[in-house]
Amino acid sequence: MEYTNKVLDHFRNPRNVGELEDANAVGKVGSPSCGDKMEMYLKIEEGIIKEAKFMTFGCAAAISSSSVATELLKGMRVEEALQLTNQRVVEELGGLPEAKIHCSVMVEEAVQAALEDYEQRKKQEII
Ligand code: FES
Repeated sequence: MEYTNKVLDHFRNPRNVGELEDANAVGKVGSPSCGDKMEMYLKIEEGIIKEAKFMTFGCAAAISSSSVATELLKGMRVEEALQLTNQRVVEELGGLPEAKIHCSVMVEEAVQAALEDYEQRKKQEII
């Protein structure tokens, strides 16, 4: 399977790239299978994701997966974001080659890590 037009579009023009200065949920993960890295920044207010940005040091599939994920995440409730799977991201991209599925898994992990960070900050009452 080749990359879909949507994958190529998000790879060439990734949405929401960069660090989010006032993020209150940050997830940083790496893929053991290829060594690539991903950082997910979320700004959550009253349980709703208001802003989402990412930085991905990885392949086209990883960049396009993170880009569509930030689009999906904006406006989502935390509970919904916790359910965001890599399959949902792949679906949104119109598919990924089998060998590239692990790249989308990194997005799911980065979002989960960011939401865990958010829970920790809430517990420590630093937000
Ligand atoms: Fe490393 Fe795609 S090959 S994230």
